Amino acid sequence: CGITGFTGKEEALPFLMQGLEKLEYRGYDSAGVTLVDKNGLYTIKTKGRLKDLENLLTNQEHSQTTGIGHTRWATHGVPSNLNSHPHTNADNTISIVHNGIIENYQAIKEELQRQGYPFVSQTDSEVIVHLIDYYNQGDLVQALQKAVRYLEGSFALCVVSTQCPDQIIVAKKESPMILGKSDQGTFCASDIPAVLAYTKDILSLEDGQIAILKPEDIQVLDFQGEVQAQNWSHVPYDLQAAQKGGYDTFMEKEIHEQPYVIKETLRGRLGVSDVVLPELDLAKIDWKMIERVYFIACGTAYNASMYAQDLFRTWMPKMPSFALAASEFRYGDYYVDENTICIFVSQSGETADTLAALNLAKEQRAHTISVVNVLDSSLARKSEVTLYTCAGPEIAVASTKAYTTQLVLLVCLVLGLVQHWKETIPQIQEIVKDLDRMPEIIETILKEDSTLQEYAQLLKDKHDAYFIGRRLDYYSVAEGALKLKEISYVHADAYMAGELKHGPIALIEPGTVVVALATQEEVAAKTISNIEETMARGATVILITFQNQDTSKFDRVIRIPSIHPLLTAIPAAVLLQMFAYHAACIKGCDVDKPRNLAKSVTVE
Ligand code: G6P
Repeated sequence: CGITGFTGKEEALPFLMQGLEKLEYRGYDSAGVTLVDKNGLYTIKTKGRLKDLENLLTNQEHSQTTGIGHTRWATHGVPSNLNSHPHTNADNTISIVHNGIIENYQAIKEELQRQGYPFVSQTDSEVIVHLIDYYNQGDLVQALQKAVRYLEGSFALCVVSTQCPDQIIVAKKESPMILGKSDQGTFCASDIPAVLAYTKDILSLEDGQIAILKPEDIQVLDFQGEVQAQNWSHVPYDLQAAQKGGYDTFMEKEIHEQPYVIKETLRGRLGVSDVVLPELDLAKIDWKMIERVYFIACGTAYNASMYAQDLFRTWMPKMPSFALAASEFRYGDYYVDENTICIFVSQSGETADTLAALNLAKEQRAHTISVVNVLDSSLARKSEVTLYTCAGPEIAVASTKAYTTQLVLLVCLVLGLVQHWKETIPQIQEIVKDLDRMPEIIETILKEDSTLQEYAQLLKDKHDAYFIGRRLDYYSVAEGALKLKEISYVHADAYMAGELKHGPIALIEPGTVVVALATQEEVAAKTISNIEETMARGATVILITFQNQDTSKFDRVIRIPSIHPLLTAIPAAVLLQMFAYHAACIKGCDVDKPRNLAKSVTVE
């Protein structure tokens, strides 16, 4: 979601609207603003794009000089007028906008409902305005300080009220919020592009801080009320660069967002030795009766499905399970009945083949579970159960953050399914702990960017590359090869390392680039032998492996931080994304909009 706020000497609405437009990349399923002055709060919001909000606001006078705005990417509650932000309290004296996820909203909501608070939306965010109202005894900052203590999860929020109509109170924990100041007034926003037309002097609010914005000055406190020092900085880049967060392309930006979006996707899902998936209880599945499980998807999501199916087979070996491309599932006469679970994986939730496969599964009375990024998309609406990745809008055509969030959520889903069958999972505590560490692991992996840029130079004048790996590494190389061919147009093939000698090795000649993954200790020695076979034919090898592997024979090696072997696919994916990205840049390709490809394929 994207947030804007302004208080100053001029009308607030023009700033709010231009800021929301710059933030539309963060979400675009609904939008709204609250303007405030001594006459009260004026809130207007709607489902749809910013244009729809603009249409509602035209031909009206809006002289208020304080206001907050929001453009939404739904996580809880479908896109609708009521679920749109801002949210106001019952007597319309306080209004808030929120970006983030309140994990414990259900518990707070039930308590507030017992106290008589009326809820009108299905969002997690609405609890915030009622909680502030509950604590409000005349000092809004104090009320907010009390409220934030109860909020578990992530939030960047702005509050306006009729009590102090020329102020905006802002709080932040684990969701971005920047502040700005100019002669016109003071600003806040989720990201720098929203304020750049007004100021380049920016203060990034830190976790655990509250800011009080007045027309002429900004005060920053911590959640306990202690005044905090302010470290302002000057933005060195222009608006166009800022929209991509200072990165050259959306793909690069999205690659670097992965620690954050993985964290958001896992929020509230991990216990000590189990996962929390209440959604599964919504399905009326008689677990004892289930006879087979299908994972069905297209493209990158299909690669994620193959990985999930392998995990499922590892932990539930007696239950037949299959990963299928949706286009094949439809015409392949696969047996489906009411004792079948079909799991659909999709970023957009609109891919025609995946939707058609879902319809087919429903006709055959299968149970349907979807892993989707876009809230309320067709797949989400039609499935019995939907689990959402929290990747946010993915703009680049080549999928990056949607893929890794699919991987982490699919690990949780498979663990959740296995929990239902009460099967024991070896080293479950370690797996859950490493999932929890995943955002930091990905941070570490991102530091390999310059090494991958150097390795990508190997492809400068090449037309082919081969990717090899065994077991789980095969799915990673399948995705790595897909990424490379999608954006750099290098012909890239992925092979199971053991299959190399049965044909593909004929293609290896001096200087051929081979990207090899050997992260699975039990088969690493075998993969290494296969790699050596390619080196004997002159291949130039890039090896990605685990910490302790002997790599003395290799010149180009990247090691994945120590992590449970079933989870190495997640950091490996990020490495291969960076490799593909740099190869495409070196070849001068349009990284965000590769030829012939569409982000969402709604034809069969
Ligand atoms: C298109 C995109 C791919 C994506 C596939 C499936 O081909 O270019 O990046 O993996 O569709 O999309 P979905 O939205 O269902 O994940």
